[in-house]
Amino acid sequence: METLLNKQIDALNNSDLSLSCSSSSSSSNSDVNGHQNYVNFETKSIDFFNVVNRFTLDSIGEIGFGTDLDTLTAFPENHPFLISFDRAQVISMLRIFEPEWPFKRFFRVGAEGEFVHHIKVLRARALEIVKERRRQFHSQGKGRDFLSLFLSGAKDFTDKDLTDDFLVDMCLNFIIAGRDTTACALSWMMYELTQNPRVLQKAREEINSVLGDRELSFDDLSKFKYLRAIQDETLRLHPSVPRDSRTAAWNALDLSAWSKRC
Ligand code: HEM
Repeated sequence: METLLNKQIDALNNSDLSLSCSSSSSSSNSDVNGHQNYVNFETKSIDFFNVVNRFTLDSIGEIGFGTDLDTLTAFPENHPFLISFDRAQVISMLRIFEPEWPFKRFFRVGAEGEFVHHIKVLRARALEIVKERRRQFHSQGKGRDFLSLFLSGAKDFTDKDLTDDFLVDMCLNFIIAGRDTTACALSWMMYELTQNPRVLQKAREEINSVLGDRELSFDDLSKFKYLRAIQDETLRLHPSVPRDSRTAAWNALDLSAWSKRC
């Protein structure tokens, strides 16, 4: 994690640019090919959301599967995994506005044709990770990442259940669940701090009083009460998951339905 933080700082330093904060990539320009430019050389600013998106993706790679996905070092250049991940998400979201998408998917045309390519890229990389984790798990035993812990703790699962496909789904699920949520929260937090210098000052004071000159350790995290309050307030003002819809699998209000299930 420390290495990742250093990488993030290096990426920013190397870019020779000042930091501008936007909560979405909407401030980015597009080049003639429609590709996003996350660096604005005129205003000497970078898209902070893009940097933290890489940071959270690389963090989850490390925590989740003990693998450096290495999107941060590529900054500000784009990265195949990052491109496919973002495009796949955008295309799945656009389906809401295109009820005819299943036909397009069937014939693999337009964005749905592109989607197939991106899913292939993502699954291929996730499969490499799964195979590597399995190999290490069998040769070196239990690792500390989520996937290794899952492999060692999955006693109720047979080898038939733990197929490569199942583990690839799990990897991608973790990335989807953990990346954008955290990146959005961090971007909004930074934005709010830039708007509230008094709070920023108090945050700095807390960091200095807890750490002094030493490096951060895991045990320090619970000592950052003020930072925790900033994080909670950021999520209250700008929830990363503003809506979470659920559908009842059966009619829970119908008593006869209960009696059938019990
Ligand atoms: C600001 C950060 C985050 C927010 C706001 C957030 C929010 C949520 C919410 C609202 C759910 C759905 C809960 C439910 O209704 O059952 C969820 C599920 C989940 N989250 Fe997070 N999350 C965050 C970060 C993370 C991170 C960092 C990880 C993992 C590295 C993660 C992994 C998961 C997983 C595995 C699920 C279950 C997904 C499923 O249903 O299959 N989340 N999260």
